[in-house]
Amino acid sequence: MAATAIINIKLLVNTRGENRLLRGGDLAKLPCIENAFLVIEDGIISSYGKMDTPGSPAETATNIIDASGQLLLPCWCDSHTHLVFAASREEEFVDKIRGLSYAELAERGGGILNSAEKLHQTSESELLRQAWRRLQEVMLLGTGAIEIKSGYGLSVEGELKMLRVIKKLKETSPIPVKATFLGAHTYPVAYKDNHQGYIDLIINEMLPAIAKEKLADYIDVFCETGFFSPEETETICRAGMRYGLKPKIHANQLNLSGGVQTGVKLGAVSVDHLETMDEEAVNTLARSTTIGTLLPSAAFFLRMPFQPARKLIDAGCAVALASDYNPGSSPSGNMNLVVSMSCIQMKMLPEEAINAATLNGAYAMELQDELGSITVGKKANLILTKPVPSLAYLPYSFGSNLVDKVMIAGEWV
Ligand code: NIG
Ligand code: FE
Repeated sequence: MAATAIINIKLLVNTRGENRLLRGGDLAKLPCIENAFLVIEDGIISSYGKMDTPGSPAETATNIIDASGQLLLPCWCDSHTHLVFAASREEEFVDKIRGLSYAELAERGGGILNSAEKLHQTSESELLRQAWRRLQEVMLLGTGAIEIKSGYGLSVEGELKMLRVIKKLKETSPIPVKATFLGAHTYPVAYKDNHQGYIDLIINEMLPAIAKEKLADYIDVFCETGFFSPEETETICRAGMRYGLKPKIHANQLNLSGGVQTGVKLGAVSVDHLETMDEEAVNTLARSTTIGTLLPSAAFFLRMPFQPARKLIDAGCAVALASDYNPGSSPSGNMNLVVSMSCIQMKMLPEEAINAATLNGAYAMELQDELGSITVGKKANLILTKPVPSLAYLPYSFGSNLVDKVMIAGEWV
């Protein structure tokens, strides 16, 4: 069997014998091996260890890569994105710079409704072409697994169109893709004054069609003041759960929406955003098995206060990091930047940020048995950095691309 060995690795990062969702103080523990080797067979990590291990399998490998001075990490696991969209929205970005508020933009048909309008005018094949390009872009930045949401369709056909594109990505992408149904992203214009009518449409028409074609793994709701209330969120999620879709919800982005409590009550895999948290929401999350997924690039782009990562971690929460890649609040899927922002603006330690963006991100997509750490038997989705002085240098030198090469299932991309 052809084996590839990466040798003389300055630091092999996040090496773990067994999996555990990391919460509280565990997040700061990032096991690493200095001067290490790693062997890959059939796209899977088959062994790793210290370079001076006598008789190491690296000695007999057919392909040998010398990684002197370089770090090797598991790929980023980006557990929250809206990667499928029809058009960018830089005109709104400029309007906001000129002083327009999010609400004023929404009144002019901006925001999510703007993206929905553009999505309706775009064919499935064009959406796929654009999404594929974005996927290639983030893979080259080190993303090795990704979750993608619908939510710009807002009609039966529109949501199915988006989810079919995500399914095609799933079937063709070299990296694992998870699909989330976010029909409850906002109310479409036709249901502006008939919220219950739209909720009924989600439950009675969208969900059965989605289940029939097996188009989604998760269900999401934008639980936010002015969007979907905690009660509506619960109703929609429970309807999804009857089809086997687990909740992963947008919570507490703009307000103390009650989304965290609702997510925890439903046993959600994750509650995401969390810009606006009080003591009760923090403690509820800390006592639960639900992951808190922080999206600092969305807070940055919308000029909002960053998520209270320190409070969450110190209270014992399990925290993941994701990009929220979307045209309205985070037009970037660069997880390297997300990790940097988490350290700079949320005071996460480099070790905490890397754990949150790898192993805990994998947990937030239920991919922890395949990805998220350097573990024998896991997929060889790996980031080889350029030569760097230390681990902390990665988040420290924000904005530089320190990714030298990315390996997906044993192949360099
Ligand atoms: O996660 N907050 C809701 N949804 C997206 C933004 C959607 C948009 O503006 O297109 C988010 O930030
Ligand atoms: Fe989002």
